[in-house]
Amino acid sequence: MGKKLYIETLGCAMNVRDSEHIIAELKTKESYDLTEDINEADLILINTCSVREKPVHKLFSEIGHFNKIKKKDAKIGVCGCTASHLGEEIIKRAPYVSFVLGARNVSKITEVLHKEKAVEIDIDYDESTYAFSDFRSSPYKAYINISIGCDKQCTFCIVPSTRGEEISIPSELIINEARRAAQSGAKEIFLLGQNVNNYGRRFSSGDEKINFTELLRRVSQIEGIERIRFTSPHPLHMDDEFLEEFASNPKICKSMHMPLQSGSTEILRRMKRGYTKEWFLNRAFKLREMVPDVHISTDIIVGFPGENDKDFEDTLDVVKKVKFEQIFSFKYSPRPLTPAKDYEDQVPQEIASERLSLLQEMHKEMLDDIAKKQKGKVFNVYFEELKPGGYVAGRSDNNFIIKVKGSEELLGEFRDVKITKPGRLSLEGEVIA
Ligand code: SAH
Ligand code: F3S
Repeated sequence: MGKKLYIETLGCAMNVRDSEHIIAELKTKESYDLTEDINEADLILINTCSVREKPVHKLFSEIGHFNKIKKKDAKIGVCGCTASHLGEEIIKRAPYVSFVLGARNVSKITEVLHKEKAVEIDIDYDESTYAFSDFRSSPYKAYINISIGCDKQCTFCIVPSTRGEEISIPSELIINEARRAAQSGAKEIFLLGQNVNNYGRRFSSGDEKINFTELLRRVSQIEGIERIRFTSPHPLHMDDEFLEEFASNPKICKSMHMPLQSGSTEILRRMKRGYTKEWFLNRAFKLREMVPDVHISTDIIVGFPGENDKDFEDTLDVVKKVKFEQIFSFKYSPRPLTPAKDYEDQVPQEIASERLSLLQEMHKEMLDDIAKKQKGKVFNVYFEELKPGGYVAGRSDNNFIIKVKGSEELLGEFRDVKITKPGRLSLEGEVIA
């Protein structure tokens, strides 16, 4: 019997990819097999997120629970951003944890595994050219990192302190990885980084001259790749060249994440986002004009220190004008190691909660409207997942989740689907070709 690995992944797409790397290394170098049954695991890992306070709170109750139900000799390891941030403190508070592995030290997983109470959290560690073993959780799409770390210093965000400075991964490595993924059958590539359209500003060695737009062009030339997605771009770096490539390259999916954070220019300044309300609107309108069926998603924080009613009105105003197809909205959460936690004018919880529900209610109505408009439309869907009740689900190029009655034979296939039942979270339709 081989050893079994149970892994739980929280947080962003970068964590999903980090977990795939961890699984790959443990499978090929330590002969672990994945299990979904924690009771039979020899190694239990939790890949954490520290962007907001809630998941950090939950970490200790969760690993405490793991410790109660685990097999006698099973090890528990804590990975990811909370590992980077809390380091040794995790082992102090939870002495049954065997090792702590930071978000920028993933390649050291097989080392820490054999060192009892190891803490590897060096945020200057350079993994940008490390050749990870291959593992993908989906045969249909491949996540590929294009950079590590983040050079922005958004004043609310802990990520620069947990993932370190931004380094781009050499384009040759990215292209080779995308080729390998395409050869193994993945038709969709998902390029990942905290700030993807800043790609090419700094490599750890060499002097490659390439930006994100050029990288997109090169990836799109790889045979077998039909769709390219990426996250997250930064609104500040959405120059015309980038928007034109996005609009004109048929392999780039017409879905853009534009993290707004706030619609108020004053709050954006305090967040150090580098753009104004007007710049954001200008980019979003230009995008809608260039790509009429584009799907725009966003992240919004309400209750950032100093946010008054007028600032919040500005946020609602941008939401009304851009009519985002998807909004990830959060109450501001003061984070250690960030400047904003010390700002004096923190917004009371009740006000932040009230604003969050106002924003979410307003967006729900918009979503009903957006959904209704999709009835009768035809989308090309790439099917990826079986769903209960005899459904198969996938995404349209512009990121609507679409399900149809069907079975395995649709998986990994493209079909034209006509929408019959639009819903807020997913659209239902019939395959017509
Ligand atoms: N580089 C990514 C951001 C990663 S964090 C990007 O630009 O999209 C993901 C999201 O979490 C952010 O966009 C922000 O909306 C939210 N977030 C980050 N720090 C936060 C905080 N302290 N409180 C509330 N939300 C936060
Ligand atoms: Fe965080 Fe801003 Fe970077 S939100 S991840 S510091 S772009």
